[in-house]
Amino acid sequence: MKTVTLSHLNAFKRASEPFSCLTAYDASFAQHAGAAGIDVLLVGDSLGMVLQGHASTLPVTLDDILYHTRCVARGKQRSLLMVDLPFMSNADTRQVLHDAGALMRAGAELVKIEGAGWMHDDVRALTQRGVPVCAHLGLTPQSVHQFGGYKVQGREQDDAQRIVDDARLLVDAGASVILLECVPAALGRAVRDAVEVPVIGIGAGPDVDGQILVMHDILGVTHGRPPRFAKNFLAGRDSIQAAFAAYHDAVKTRQFPAEEHCF
Ligand code: KIV
Repeated sequence: MKTVTLSHLNAFKRASEPFSCLTAYDASFAQHAGAAGIDVLLVGDSLGMVLQGHASTLPVTLDDILYHTRCVARGKQRSLLMVDLPFMSNADTRQVLHDAGALMRAGAELVKIEGAGWMHDDVRALTQRGVPVCAHLGLTPQSVHQFGGYKVQGREQDDAQRIVDDARLLVDAGASVILLECVPAALGRAVRDAVEVPVIGIGAGPDVDGQILVMHDILGVTHGRPPRFAKNFLAGRDSIQAAFAAYHDAVKTRQFPAEEHCF
């Protein structure tokens, strides 16, 4: 089984073939996700909510992320390993470089950073030093208190245009991937068309290049009401690996996301 690289993600985009991404936090689940065909694994700071029980991702530390990155790196097979920079890693360029360096040494192959167009200097500094970057736009959960909750972003024309412009700016600065969270499907399509790099969506509609979900959501073990954009793929199946494979197949065949998962 060939290891997935950024070149494969670019080829998927060129071929209009959707790719699958899933969060993972330990070696065993990473192994099952790889065996099920998942293309990209994310050690997300969502671990603060789904593993640690916090109400947001803000309490997650660099050490937390490093621990789970090492675990996933040991278990993963073919999937590309993307890892989140935690809250305030983007405080300044020195901090970003330090934290991203630590993630890469722990096994990250792509570093995800939340924010907006203002991050362009940091994205440039990282990519010039050999750190591939995924820029996370739209609903960026580390800014939940600024947004006043987990709300769909880019509904107004001005906001949508700003997100498209930010995506272009960050790609010009060197970002290899854009991740868009909780935006109207039309905006997902607009960003996909605006940039040459792969666009991964979570609640960003069907017309992006890749789909990502939080593992706990697809296994139906989310606390409280699951988000609208998620689907329980374990329901009606008898193993976790079968659920991962069903998610992967649904993404590849464009059966997921369906209308009811979109904004
Ligand atoms: O932390 C995370 O799991 C994420 C996904 C929601 C994309 O950023």
